[in-house]
Amino acid sequence: MKVCVIGGGGREHTLAWKLAQSDSVEKVYAIPGSKAMEDVAECIAIDWQDFGAVTEFLTKDNIDLVAIGPEAPLVAGLADAVREAGIAVFGPSKATAQLEGSKVFAKDLMKKYNIPTAAYGVFDDVAKAEAFIDETGAPIVIKADGLAAGKGVVVAMTVEEAKAAVVDMLSANRFGDAGHTVVIEEFMSGEEASLLAFVDGTTVVPMIASQDHKRIFDGDKGPNTGGMGTYAPAPVMTDALLKEAYDKVLVPMVAAMKKEGMPYVGCLYAGLMITPQGPKVVEFNARFGDPETQVVLPLLDGDLGEIMMACAKGTLTEDMVAWKKGSAACVILASAGYPETSHKDDVIDGDLSFTDNTLIFHSGTAYKDGHFVTAGGRVLGIVGLGADLQVALDVAYERVAKVGFEGRQYRKDIGQKAFAHLR
Ligand code: AMP
Ligand code: GLY
Repeated sequence: MKVCVIGGGGREHTLAWKLAQSDSVEKVYAIPGSKAMEDVAECIAIDWQDFGAVTEFLTKDNIDLVAIGPEAPLVAGLADAVREAGIAVFGPSKATAQLEGSKVFAKDLMKKYNIPTAAYGVFDDVAKAEAFIDETGAPIVIKADGLAAGKGVVVAMTVEEAKAAVVDMLSANRFGDAGHTVVIEEFMSGEEASLLAFVDGTTVVPMIASQDHKRIFDGDKGPNTGGMGTYAPAPVMTDALLKEAYDKVLVPMVAAMKKEGMPYVGCLYAGLMITPQGPKVVEFNARFGDPETQVVLPLLDGDLGEIMMACAKGTLTEDMVAWKKGSAACVILASAGYPETSHKDDVIDGDLSFTDNTLIFHSGTAYKDGHFVTAGGRVLGIVGLGADLQVALDVAYERVAKVGFEGRQYRKDIGQKAFAHLR
């Protein structure tokens, strides 16, 4: 079959790379893709926001399956437009993608169906929000309702900081429409893990657990980013916790979406906090994680094209999904100024080719005058594969040492939390 990936970042590079290896897939396309993705996909320069142009291309070229990478096209309803054109889609509808697009929607649904998450209130009035903060005390977490590119969450350590965040979102219009309503929730402490699952509307098949590193600096210091590195499998998710998360989070949420008339099709991403009371949901995303995908998919022992098509058709079975032994680790190289800004056009030196045990996925690069240059906050995801996590990390960091650009930033402590569980 012919598969078209929507998007052009590191997650989509990984999806296209894995799809290109699938026996069921004859050809991979990407809209818009990237220069680096040309090694595995034919990239088509169409703006995804032009749904008409996208569906015209898909129809004309007889594309069998579309895999939508980022949240923005999902929340905007691209999956619906492609489905209406009669083409199979891996990715939730606009209505279903509210699970990521609206924190209020997600929290209300979790409450209705008893899915473990932090206690919360919803506010669009500053005085009422401040009264709630006074009542609850700090630490406390303030979240803009809508999509805010990972920046709409403030974990406030003091009541003053919490109130300032509320004013910033509700009165100062910091996130525009996305912040006109806020969710204020209980602070949860614990270690975080990302649990992704393939879902066909009814059947849920979890992937291996991974762990992201959201802060820019080592030791989880500094501002939040889109994610500075990942590893999988993440041993914080023991078999018992995986079963608990499957039984109490993934299965009930998929059943809830079906019951609500918005069946979930695609990758369901549960961001979990492992609290003393067990796993609780920090957030749901309606797509693969970035950079979780970069460590999870290399370990998938299965035909990604076949799995995605089965999700789209409602025929997913557990035996389609198996996992390779060993570990994967991804170190993100970010550009100067990230996450506040990003620096463009810094020339990237070094060999960026794939080897047997290292993969380099491009998150934000462009190709100019015969060189790859920086073109985004997160630039490259350097993945090491190995028999265990230590080997995977060693291999990844060896490649990191050989790839340079002006102002390069990366974390040196990816994966270190895992060792507390492995000892
Ligand atoms: P989110 O965008 O909802 O994933 O939030 C970004 C980050 O804020 C998460 O990865 C957590 O580290 C942190 N966070 C969000 N909600 C909470 C919470 N209720 N308690 C503690 N930390 C949280
Ligand atoms: N890595 C976090 C996310 O994809 O939302």
